Amino acid sequence: MIKVIPKKNKIAAEIICKINNLKKNEIKKIKSALNDFGMVYFRNQNLSSENYLKFAKKLGILADYPRLKGLSSKYDKITVVERKSSDKGPSFGEQFHTDSIYTKNPPRFTMLLSKLVPKKGQANTDFASQYLAYKNLPENIKKKLKNLKAIYSSEGPISVTTHERQKEKGKQKNELISKHKIIKKINKKFSIFCSPGHFIKFKNLNKLEESKLKKFLFKHQIKKKFRYSLEWEKNQLAIWDNRSMLHQATPFKGNRIMHRITIN
Ligand SMILES: [Fe+2]
Repeated sequence: MIKVIPKKNKIAAEIICKINNLKKNEIKKIKSALNDFGMVYFRNQNLSSENYLKFAKKLGILADYPRLKGLSSKYDKITVVERKSSDKGPSFGEQFHTDSIYTKNPPRFTMLLSKLVPKKGQANTDFASQYLAYKNLPENIKKKLKNLKAIYSSEGPISVTTHERQKEKGKQKNELISKHKIIKKINKKFSIFCSPGHFIKFKNLNKLEESKLKKFLFKHQIKKKFRYSLEWEKNQLAIWDNRSMLHQATPFKGNRIMHRITIN
């Protein structure tokens, strides 16, 4: 039996279950909660890398992360996201973004499993629901965005936060660039699919229009009422729909190790 507990404005839900022995219908329930809430999390999951991957495979096809090497050759689909107390500068992912939007097919889901975390509440991940953000757009802006595309780059504004980790574990050095429609339809719901952390420009907009729209959109996407701040505990697993949730790491001092898997 699994239990789904909705959180603030239905942006997130806590799911109570044991990941290690889930039945088929329970996996189905988790997938539908992901669709309903955008982000779900599970506390107290002491998962081995083997079982973590096993669970991830039940949600889809495991994706490659183009920027960093994996945990080991056996577990190359698990990326280690690490912050050391000696690190200077911002943490990895410290600006609202969509994972790997600079690729042609950005992953559907991202999972993070916490291995080492600072005190609860001191190193949160913030989420912003882009279903809610879309729903609350004025009609004229919805129209404007309807067929608009934007260009994204792996060297966008957020890339400064990956440099520390790239020095240690980097693999891809070339800049990756992609183009995507801003409005995405996911299972009959509309979402704003635009990553401020990787944004370069809108397609076919003049400078003035672009700067006006960008200013409005980036502010709108991350309004407090669309947000949920996830507090980490050790052995906690979070999964979110990368197409409908923006996320960012909040600034903190200390050591943190997360194991990440992305899913297509
Ligand atoms: Fe991220």
